Amino acid sequence: MTVSGRTCGPEKVKGRKKSKAQSQARTSTRVWPEPRSGDQHFSGPVVSAKPTTLIKLRRAKRSDAPFVADLAGKVFCEYGLYDQCLPDWLFQDGIVSLIAEIRRRPVGMAIVHMPENTSNYGMGLIVYILAMAVSPYFQRRGVGQALMRRIINDAIKNKIEYIVLHTAVANHPAINFYKKHNFEVIRLVRHYYPSGQDAFTMVLALD
Ligand SMILES: CC(C)(COP(=O)(O)OP(=O)(O)OC[C@H]1O[C@@H](n2cnc3c(N)ncnc32)[C@H](O)[C@@H]1OP(=O)(O)O)[C@@H](O)C(=O)NCCC(=O)NCCS
Repeated sequence: MTVSGRTCGPEKVKGRKKSKAQSQARTSTRVWPEPRSGDQHFSGPVVSAKPTTLIKLRRAKRSDAPFVADLAGKVFCEYGLYDQCLPDWLFQDGIVSLIAEIRRRPVGMAIVHMPENTSNYGMGLIVYILAMAVSPYFQRRGVGQALMRRIINDAIKNKIEYIVLHTAVANHPAINFYKKHNFEVIRLVRHYYPSGQDAFTMVLALD
């Protein structure tokens, strides 16, 4: 699957829903893609978000693919077969994939597309957040915020003008989360997801 321009959105992930057992069998036997060697755009190993929780951020490794598949199966299954496609996106060209850990346990992830082309969506230089998720048990502890702060800080360092993402219209927790980080809804996209849900395009303009 290619990840470039508008094709990086989840709307390209089509298919029939699979059972949990089928998904687990598939994730345990798959050969996952190799990580790409260093990417200059995103940096720095450690971030602490809330004082009570030490959250470590690092680049994704090949061994994280089953975690990403499992997490996507838990939080994105209603939208499409993201447990199957997200691990494939992790190390594609132009992608930066971050893993958040608490006590060495992966608890969250962000998959970000940073196009080399300087003009995308007619908006200038953008970063596109393909997916962001935190394990249900670890939500609301600042993990998402740590991931988002890292993405925003690195985007500013790299003179990115906009951060763009899509999220389901009915996903109020995510919309609140993104609004808390000053994202604004700019568009409604009908039937954006493979399972048919509408999405909002949300944008953060960086000064
Ligand atoms: C959206 C998501 C990534 C947020 O991650 P998180 O680690 O739980 O969020 P944080 O603890 O960093 O929350 C930061 C702020 O976002 C807002 N927020 C987060 N979750 C919220 C919720 N369920 N309801 C309302 N506001 C919420 C709050 O303002 C929160 O600050 P507070 O806790 O001080 O009030 C996480 O809920 C998630 O993985 N959801 C399932 C997958 C998903 O929907 N991903 C996004 C769509 S692509």
